[in-house]
Amino acid sequence: MNSETFSLHFEDRGIGVPTLLIHGFPFSGLLWARQSEALSEQARLLVPDLPGFGNSPLADTSYTMDRYVEDCVAVLDALGLLEPITIGGLSMGGYIALAFARNFPERVGRLLLFSTRAGADSAEAKAARDKTIAQVEEHGSSAVTEAMYPKLLAPAAYSENPGAAAELQMVMQTASAEGIIAALRAMRDRPDSSDLLGKLQVPTLIVHGREDQIIPPSEAEAMAKAIPNSELHLIDSTGHLPNLEKPDEFNRIVATFLGNH
Ligand code: MLT
Repeated sequence: MNSETFSLHFEDRGIGVPTLLIHGFPFSGLLWARQSEALSEQARLLVPDLPGFGNSPLADTSYTMDRYVEDCVAVLDALGLLEPITIGGLSMGGYIALAFARNFPERVGRLLLFSTRAGADSAEAKAARDKTIAQVEEHGSSAVTEAMYPKLLAPAAYSENPGAAAELQMVMQTASAEGIIAALRAMRDRPDSSDLLGKLQVPTLIVHGREDQIIPPSEAEAMAKAIPNSELHLIDSTGHLPNLEKPDEFNRIVATFLGNH
């Protein structure tokens, strides 16, 4: 099912434990295309487009991680899903998943953290966000998508995995300049979630590409050390988007985790 009834456009597909999959930046729910078929026999996948990405409008420009969480919670409330469910996210989606766990611990049954980190932006990273915001204001969304494109996959994947490279181009086309700017501000100002990690009680799956050029795999290793009930998988020859670069291996890891917990 695709729904336009709520403030977020989202896909609702499959049967089983409800599983929210939050995309990264600057993508849309299409990022999970290779999961929606493969995992939908095991889980009810709820795949939103965040505001300003894909088919979801941006209400205004003042977004925070907490506000993205509220938008996701509104979808779950409207579906009557008040029980603990699986909350997953990739990169910025992981920042949102951690904010979800901080704000609504009673609604999180399992956590999936893909290609993400717990820490806040450093002063240098914040300055880089401001520079990027100025570039998007001047040149539009391509200032971000063209700069990020060569860093998102493992370096060899651009020639060896042209299908993934083409899909990546397509998924990035749906981002609006306004959505990108709102997300850059929200990421720049996000709080540090490191103190939350030791308090997480739920089973947590962490997956990261060993050749991630956006967030180093050491961040995943640090989260795995800090989260008591966690399981870490580092995928070889894979960059920032393991679900798109190595969908079979990625889906097997997620399906096994969902089956075991
Ligand atoms: C993402 O992939 O969601 C972003 O690149 C993460 C970030 O910029 O911090």
